Amino acid sequence: MAPAPLLTIGELSRRTGMSVSAIRYYEARGLVQAIRSAGNQRRFPRADIRRLSFALIAQQLGLTLAEIAAVLATLPQGRSPTRADWQAISRRIRSALQQRIEMLERTRDRLDGCIGCGCLSLARCALYNPGDRAAAAGTGPRFLLAAIEPAAVRPSGGRRRPCRTAR
Ligand code: FES
Repeated sequence: MAPAPLLTIGELSRRTGMSVSAIRYYEARGLVQAIRSAGNQRRFPRADIRRLSFALIAQQLGLTLAEIAAVLATLPQGRSPTRADWQAISRRIRSALQQRIEMLERTRDRLDGCIGCGCLSLARCALYNPGDRAAAAGTGPRFLLAAIEPAAVRPSGGRRRPCRTAR
């Protein structure tokens, strides 16, 4: 069987929707590897459409470029990745994606309440984050970043209310 024709960077740009400069940027970071033509122009295997599409989606899902590059580096070089190769990637990022899904759900459900950021600016902060106890768990909006229930930062021995969110 004849090898699939290689794509120019313009063709890759048109199919993926990425700008040529973005593709060069991803290439420089090792997400795709161009082959040089006799005239020293970039040529890409068609399978790179899928690599770049994965990078696009993974970035939108919150994976960093370094994470994406590390995952793509596990794909075989010199041949088109198979379904089994992509299944292995799916398993690798499943946990990271699950964590992001849970953070998005917490943000959706709690953004109008106390987020444990230390501002103490809402009346509810005194109830859910008294004295900024959330700071003991780390920096940032602790109730969004981590699966910490606002009730978990209440003083020990206090009566816990059966509330699930910081509304
Ligand atoms: S919203 Fe910032 S500490 Fe409550």
